[in-house]
Amino acid sequence: MSSHSPIKKFSRRASLGMLAAGTTSTAWAFLGEPDHLTVTRKDFTLHNWPTALDGFRIAHLTDLHYRPGDDEELFEKVIAAVKKEAPDLILITGDYIIKDPSSLPELCAKLKDISAPHGIIASPGNHDRWHCSPGQLLKHIESAGINYLQNDGTTLHIKGERIFIPALDSIWGGHINPARAWKGHRKGDPVIALVHEPDVFDQLHPERPISLQLSGHTHGGQCRVPLIGYAPAKVRYGRNYIYGDFQKNDAQLWVGRGIGTVGLRVRFSCAPEVSLLTMRAPS
Ligand SMILES: [Fe+2]
Repeated sequence: MSSHSPIKKFSRRASLGMLAAGTTSTAWAFLGEPDHLTVTRKDFTLHNWPTALDGFRIAHLTDLHYRPGDDEELFEKVIAAVKKEAPDLILITGDYIIKDPSSLPELCAKLKDISAPHGIIASPGNHDRWHCSPGQLLKHIESAGINYLQNDGTTLHIKGERIFIPALDSIWGGHINPARAWKGHRKGDPVIALVHEPDVFDQLHPERPISLQLSGHTHGGQCRVPLIGYAPAKVRYGRNYIYGDFQKNDAQLWVGRGIGTVGLRVRFSCAPEVSLLTMRAPS
């Protein structure tokens, strides 16, 4: 076969095309997608959600992993998105840092710019507990006007109704104590639980009342295979629930993709996310 045969020409063109596509995809994964913030909207009909609070909107942020010097554009988008959506409540499920706690004051200065009528409540992630003392976390996060809870719970009183928010410690970086976190729960009150690692859902349910558990930890896989969505990277306590909504009997679970990254600052087919969750009462 001569070097000018149509088959050879085709395979050379196909190889060059694949190389170009691969280079473009790699460039996007490193330079584009980590800053390509998306807002995901999702309705949850909770079995014991009060009719008076139908339409209550929660912004869920998780896995911020703030990198000073690299994440400015991304966090400008996060702050702008939350302000634009004007949620009733903001809930954050941990991993504020990657490793260096010195990024915490800068991150918290940014978080001071967001607010909601019923406040901001936050729990820790494994990276925070590995690299920060609970006192450091409490001091910096509360300086941003955020209610930081670790194995503790709080009741919100809204329009004559009660919502209970228990927030667990990280199971990987600390010690979970569900009995302490659920201590203030009054039977029948809806529960929105903050739990960094999603697989804890299997331990909590059905021992503890949960209307909706909010989690992160997995980053949605951070890099997924396009179209089929397969996430090859699995993380401890994030193997059973990687991204999206799940249900076991009356208990529901939402796992967000998170905002930041760990390891390489790379995301593919798995963009950073602010989740806008609307609570619905059963009809
Ligand atoms: Fe994380």
